[in-house]
Amino acid sequence: MAFASKTVLNAASGICRLSVRNTSSAPKVALLGASGGIGQPLGLLLKTNPKVASLALYDVANTAGVGADLSHIDTAAQVTSHTGPENLHAALEGADIVVIPAGVPRKPGMTRDDLFNVNAGIVRDLAEAAAKACPKAFVAIITNPVNSTVPIAAEVYKNNGVYDPKRIFGVTTLDVVRSQAFISELKKLDVSKTVIPVIGGHSGVTIIPLLSQVQPSAQFSDSEIEKLTARIQDAGTEVVKAKAGAGSATLSMAFAGARFVDALISGLQGKKNVQCSFVESDVVKGVDYFSTPLELGPNGVEKILGYGKLSSYEQSLVEAAVPELQKNIAKGVKFIKG
Ligand code: NAI
Repeated sequence: MAFASKTVLNAASGICRLSVRNTSSAPKVALLGASGGIGQPLGLLLKTNPKVASLALYDVANTAGVGADLSHIDTAAQVTSHTGPENLHAALEGADIVVIPAGVPRKPGMTRDDLFNVNAGIVRDLAEAAAKACPKAFVAIITNPVNSTVPIAAEVYKNNGVYDPKRIFGVTTLDVVRSQAFISELKKLDVSKTVIPVIGGHSGVTIIPLLSQVQPSAQFSDSEIEKLTARIQDAGTEVVKAKAGAGSATLSMAFAGARFVDALISGLQGKKNVQCSFVESDVVKGVDYFSTPLELGPNGVEKILGYGKLSSYEQSLVEAAVPELQKNIAKGVKFIKG
């Protein structure tokens, strides 16, 4: 990327200031699905992230308005807006990170898998465009069902001869964020210091919070473990029900997505850090994609850290998740391979 220098008009003070930035370490983020319930607040959080140099907003509708609005915020990220497939390549060109929240959300009574028919094609087409325009970019997929959309993107990248399993991520950060919120509330812990790995996938029984590994360590009764696990697995449905037809989690998802993108950028800039994400992995026999803590760095996944020692209850959760994950992953692969 080029060295950039530009003049910025500070709207509040009316003063022109010269802002010089070496963009070699300041990334371009492309947000696909930018006008949606997640896309808009996530765009806001990315626009206010000082690490982001350039933010390309893409959607099939309303992108110009969202872009005009965000561009009036006096932070460094340069916002561009792109609407419709003919402008997708421009949104993606030069991107270091592609974030995908494009697609339909759940309504009450729906599972994430019920979204497959619409969202699989959306993710396929966006991945196809990204594989051509910015094959080295990290791809963070929010669109559900994540357990299937990640394999879809991977197969598209394979077909284009540019697949790198270290660079395609299913965003499961919301499961971690929720777990940390619920646990700290229950155990009266400092939420800013509460850490828990959530492994597996991103739907129902495939969401596996490792309560035995909470930091700082906390004691849970068997009944607390069962109730908390069920609440974490169903937390998305809790929001879907409360929104009563108006969609699924958007604000907490935007927060989680922004946290994950920030971690990807830190890794890209050489600051290694650990996040859970759903990626190609061989930690569980017979399952090709699995979420565990990962070390992120300049190449994406630097190391798959695995899940450590499980309690017997957690082991049973992994066993219950395996057939569901296998089914979801196979469905995604079949969608591309036919
Ligand atoms: P939404 O319907 O509010 O927004 C979706 C946006 O995608 C709309 O602006 C729409 O115009 C756009 N879109 C549709 N087709 C497109 C295409 N081909 N190219 C670009 N943009 C396109 O939905 P919301 O609430 O933002 O949810 C988006 C997705 O995120 C859903 O699939 C939902 O299930 C998923 N989700 C994932 C979570 C996770 O933890 N990974 C949590 C919550 C939601």
